Amino acid sequence: MNSHDNGGRDLPRDDDDILVLRQPDDWHVHFRDGAMLAFAAEHTARQFARAIVMPNLVPPVTTVAAAAAYRTRILEALPADHRFVPLMTAYLTDEIDPAEIAAGFRDGVFTACKLYPAGATTNSAAGVTDVRRIWPVLERMQAIGMPLLVHGEVVSPDIDIFDREAVFLETVLAPVLADFPGLKVVLEHITTEDSVRFVAAAGANLAATITAHHLRLDRNALFEGGLRPHAYCLPVAKRRRHKEALRKAATSGDPKFFLGTDSAPHQKHEKESACGCAGIFSAPTALESYAQTFDEEGALDRLEAFASVSGPRFYGLPLNEGTVTLRRAPQQVPELMTGDGVRVVPFHATETLAWRFAGRGGQATDDNGPS
Ligand code: NCD
Ligand code: ZN
Repeated sequence: MNSHDNGGRDLPRDDDDILVLRQPDDWHVHFRDGAMLAFAAEHTARQFARAIVMPNLVPPVTTVAAAAAYRTRILEALPADHRFVPLMTAYLTDEIDPAEIAAGFRDGVFTACKLYPAGATTNSAAGVTDVRRIWPVLERMQAIGMPLLVHGEVVSPDIDIFDREAVFLETVLAPVLADFPGLKVVLEHITTEDSVRFVAAAGANLAATITAHHLRLDRNALFEGGLRPHAYCLPVAKRRRHKEALRKAATSGDPKFFLGTDSAPHQKHEKESACGCAGIFSAPTALESYAQTFDEEGALDRLEAFASVSGPRFYGLPLNEGTVTLRRAPQQVPELMTGDGVRVVPFHATETLAWRFAGRGGQATDDNGPS
């Protein structure tokens, strides 16, 4: 496989100002529920054909019935002419029944399971307290070829927050991989050079998603001229050298690294609070943000592998047949985006991005951007 892999699509004419990509997917997104769901899902469905939908609702999605009902709510929240497939995940708990997981996978309801260490992030209180407790579940997942998606941070208050991902690699992930060498694992939203190295060196059963924001923010962004709640997410952005390692990995063409936005909307007032929520809402201009990074790295010819090919190949799913078009035309990202009862500050708010999403497949190419 070469680093310009586009999955065998015949490339239409690309010039410097038009970028045509095989239709991408988002391998990590948060849609929430209720009013926020109606607002969030549409933005993802506009750019992506499929997305892995995270199960950290309250209560979490732990049964096949809950996932099927959530999938229905997502589809009902979308415009009638949507062309989008939500891929559902199960939220692992200490008590989860391996038979429930296997039945959901067999019936095509669950695509994967998500491991949240209890207390690691938003709505993770019901997560796993000790990974050893889910050994029987992992055994079953390995046997049936079901991917494990991992929030890779330890939760001990004794461990510095900037070290929690690196410590997780050695204390949790390495033992899991050693005991389950055939288990497909995605280390989600990696933020460190350590993770890049760990994933690159591991077997083909380990891959990682990289967000648009971790390719652009380092930890200084959290304190630029004052406290910046809209740059706060988990895992928290790290030092600049880690961001540089992520940029190299994402643009390398290595199929172990692929697109997962971790777009995670929170109400503006819940971000701008004395105890602000973790999460960055990047869905409205996700592809434009990635394109800007790949452009800066001189790697636009590798964006398609990262966004549209390596993810489905890892999951063992077919590549999408359609295309998306991006045009080099500046767009200013709104300072605030609103829906019914929803006010969210998007990633890149007030910034001007160099690229503009110009539609999917046979769709009209005049898309006026997020509103
Ligand atoms: C996510 C959320 O808000 O659900 N927040 C975040 O900062 N990424 C949870 C998560 O993926 O950690
Ligand atoms: Zn997430």
